[in-house]
Amino acid sequence: MEANLREELFDQAKKWVLEAGETIRSKINDPLEIHTKSNPNDLVTAMDQSTEAYFVKNIKNNFPDHKILSEEGYGDELHSLKGIVWIIDPIDGTMNFVHQKRNFAISIGIYQDGIGEIGLIYDIMEDVLYSAKKDEGAMKNDVPLPILKDSLKLEEAILGLNHFWLCENRLVDEKVMQGLVKKVRGTRSYGSAALEFAYVAEGITDGYLTLGLAPWDIAAGIVIVREVGGLTTDMEGNALNLLKRSPVITSNPKIHKQITKDYFLKGKK
Ligand code: IPD
Ligand code: CA
Ligand code: CA
Repeated sequence: MEANLREELFDQAKKWVLEAGETIRSKINDPLEIHTKSNPNDLVTAMDQSTEAYFVKNIKNNFPDHKILSEEGYGDELHSLKGIVWIIDPIDGTMNFVHQKRNFAISIGIYQDGIGEIGLIYDIMEDVLYSAKKDEGAMKNDVPLPILKDSLKLEEAILGLNHFWLCENRLVDEKVMQGLVKKVRGTRSYGSAALEFAYVAEGITDGYLTLGLAPWDIAAGIVIVREVGGLTTDMEGNALNLLKRSPVITSNPKIHKQITKDYFLKGKK
């Protein structure tokens, strides 16, 4: 993508993200209209829907040839990532939004022909914007994020993961994963995949592993983590296909191979 176009899209997307965040903050104590989707714990609110509709309307009005891949059904049905594609999660961490009124984010990745050009993750209640442009590094608000530390042992790492890895699951032997949890310095679980990516990029955690995420959970995070030297792959260390759900690991490259080889591969079902 031409640098000028990337700049224009970044400025526009950032403006919309901050505006949408302001609207959500101003309505945070209003009564919520909550529905469930695939299961009783899969929540969606009218705020998720209206926020996505806001982005889709603005993108369609300003960039009618761009495509949109988004969670709540206002976007396009895509079978390829050709052209410019906005990959949007209007609220990532809806359970936190509903139960805690914090720790949720807007996540937008802008890709061209499958290449991540722009990533924006906005922690709405903290008013913190993580962002990145291809080949220009990543930022936390207006401060550049440093490249991830180049010396790190697994024993010193903090990993973002949730309990699903440690209970019986269809992908990997939970006993092997319990070994990983014992090996590392500590684990965390924040309840928003986008924020988990942002924290890896910030270097306050060293990796985040998850059993199944959708493109909108990770599209922005992949770009932001990449710009500080981090790696995002599937469980086997392969690049992700952003048209489908997949298990995901994003991490400091110093521990990536050890986790995929000594734990995922070893425990693979
Ligand atoms: C969810 C959050 C959560 C992750 C789930 C996602 P949503 O997104 O990112 O942390 O564990 O897999 O679906 O539904 O709140 O947008
Ligand atoms: Ca999500
Ligand atoms: Ca969502």
